[in-house]
Amino acid sequence: MAKVLNIMSHKGGTGKTTTAVNLAYGLAQKGLKGLCIDLDEQGNMTSILLQLKDQYPSSDVQEFLEHCKTHSQQGQAHASLCGLKDYIQKDRIRCTIYDVLMKRRTIQECIHPTPYENLDIVPYSPDILDAENRLQATMATFCLQDALQEIDDAYDFIILDNHPAENSITYNAVMAAHKEGDLHLLPIKVDRGGLEGIVRTLHLIYTLRDEKRNQLHSQIRLLVTMKNRNQEDSQWDMALHQAFPEEILSSTIRYQAKPVVYASLHKKVLLEKPDTNVARDYQKAVDEVYTLLQENGHVNAH
Ligand SMILES: Nc1ncnc2c1ncn2[C@@H]1O[C@H](COP(=O)(O)OP(=O)(O)OP(=O)(O)O)[C@@H](O)[C@H]1O
Ligand SMILES: [Mg+2]
Repeated sequence: MAKVLNIMSHKGGTGKTTTAVNLAYGLAQKGLKGLCIDLDEQGNMTSILLQLKDQYPSSDVQEFLEHCKTHSQQGQAHASLCGLKDYIQKDRIRCTIYDVLMKRRTIQECIHPTPYENLDIVPYSPDILDAENRLQATMATFCLQDALQEIDDAYDFIILDNHPAENSITYNAVMAAHKEGDLHLLPIKVDRGGLEGIVRTLHLIYTLRDEKRNQLHSQIRLLVTMKNRNQEDSQWDMALHQAFPEEILSSTIRYQAKPVVYASLHKKVLLEKPDTNVARDYQKAVDEVYTLLQENGHVNAH
């Protein structure tokens, strides 16, 4: 049965996607079969794992400009809008998380292989907020959990990358990681905003745990990310270890912009080049999560 890792924090830019992508890659490298699910309409996880930059050849930009020109009699702003719309439409991936949540397709139909061994993805949808509205209207919190049950035996782990907002998609993500051995992994950047974000996320998980009595048996783990080598961050790190001795991972991810920015710019996974300090930090986090998954019930490498 696949273990679900729900990567969540109600604060933007805490390292959720970087953590999700590197954990997925690292666990897949260990021989586990994994599925990534991109629940964020920004689609950063999808563009890294499906290397979407390849779908933007420079000729497309030329086409976009041509398209604007053909509409020039309608005014520049309108022409640009039409051109931009067509340009974006072209990049639409068929069969996404939107189709899964709206029950238009089965999850199996929406799984795409990635170029990485042992790793598949259900891609993002720019329309996911439309799905969010409908889930909210029907108060549906088990759609994702139901969908994951259909593929439980095909994977060793399933990683969910979340948007920072709190909405019905995030409720679905919390309830999808409900089994014993599933994990809510909360990346924390140790600044005021990051700490406020983590309080909101913990509050949400505890609230749902109370509301859905006996239905949430998963564990919570915190991962300190983007830690600077200064006294303030070290003090916060120490305080978090004291406040959450059971929940905090012993691995910590340092702040090291150059390799992270390089990887993100070239749509690469940081761990593909394991010789930087921040990649070594992520490798330790992968090893720690791997051990946790093994401890919390046997994980079979497929
Ligand atoms: N360890 C790190 N050192 C330096 N920069 C980092 C590190 N981790 C992530 N970043 C950078 O910080 C930014 C935010 O990271 P990331 O996209 O992983 O966060 P996120 O929580 O997924 O953001 P969002 O809430 O927008 O989805 C990115 O520009 C990323 O390149
Ligand atoms: Mg993200």
